[in-house]
Amino acid sequence: MSYKGISDFRSDTVTRPTEKMREAMYKAEVGDDVLGDDPTVIRLEELAAEKLGKESALFVPSGTMGNTIAIKVAIPQGTEVLLEEKSHIYNFECGNISRIVGALPRPIKSSRGKIPLESLEFNFHRGERAHIPDTAGITLEDTHNYWGGAVLEPEYLAQVSKFAKKKGIHFHLDGARIFNAAIALSVDAKELAKHADSVMFCLSKGLGAPIGSMLAGTKEFIESARLVRKFLGGGMRQAGVIAAAGIVAIQEMIDRLGDDHIRAKKLALGISEIEGIIIDPQEVQTDIVIFEVDPEKLSVEEFLEELGKRGVLALSFGPGRVRMVTHKDIDDKDVERAIKTVKEVMKQ
Ligand SMILES: Cc1ncc(COP(=O)(O)O)c(C=O)c1O
Repeated sequence: MSYKGISDFRSDTVTRPTEKMREAMYKAEVGDDVLGDDPTVIRLEELAAEKLGKESALFVPSGTMGNTIAIKVAIPQGTEVLLEEKSHIYNFECGNISRIVGALPRPIKSSRGKIPLESLEFNFHRGERAHIPDTAGITLEDTHNYWGGAVLEPEYLAQVSKFAKKKGIHFHLDGARIFNAAIALSVDAKELAKHADSVMFCLSKGLGAPIGSMLAGTKEFIESARLVRKFLGGGMRQAGVIAAAGIVAIQEMIDRLGDDHIRAKKLALGISEIEGIIIDPQEVQTDIVIFEVDPEKLSVEEFLEELGKRGVLALSFGPGRVRMVTHKDIDDKDVERAIKTVKEVMKQ
């Protein structure tokens, strides 16, 4: 439902907390999480670990911090990490691997987020230290933001896991939207998470919580992660106040993600019929819709400005590309409005 008359499709992070979340936050029992005694944080961490089938989990302020901590724990300084060239970690996390871990990110081309196994093999290095650092890990993204919410199937993740085990390297999954992937694939999120050594997911994306992400892995891994979180400044005190919303997010907001996917598809189909909009609606698998605007008709900047003037917000997403994301605060009316508005803007 539009908020203050605006249909905000910029991201699935723009949601407002549900009434239940606000109530849970108000009533949250708290302690001091740095001292390890905030009961609400403990409950959230147990719930997140259980949901992904991992031994343990850690509450962190953001997805970026969750990914950074995972890589810092698993990857020694002076080694390298294989990742997908359009991944969030490589492109949008301020150079965390080089800045904080002191390792070399090695970006590899993919087919919509799937790096071919041969490319992993080809880019793997060991014992060539005179020139190239040893490969110590691999990260993948499920669903993949740049590739329009594309999902990685369990079969593919199993192959990557086998590769990582064979080479003795760490496999981290940036699962900011892992539950969108699970819902789209009709599998339990555990079936995706079980292939990775560590998994990060966000409470504050499609799940509607105001703040926070979870990092999950073995008990030992999460113990180390707790220390890294502290030195990065992510130790929070009465964090139960925000963890309470995270609990509601996990318990109540996962099953509804399918509605967002249906609306994203509807949006993609609707705008695909508009002259000057370039999109293959078949590629839309989850909540993210990415399309191009014919530059002969309008620049992306003009397109977004005209859309915004009419109360529909979208995001510029790389040269010539626009991103629109559905979420809990977008309903059928917002989708109809968006299609109508895009039509109007492209006709002018
Ligand atoms: C795939 C992916 N990973 C990680 C992040 C980082 O999350 P945060 O914005 O909470 O740092 C994002 C944010 O959009 C994302 O899309």
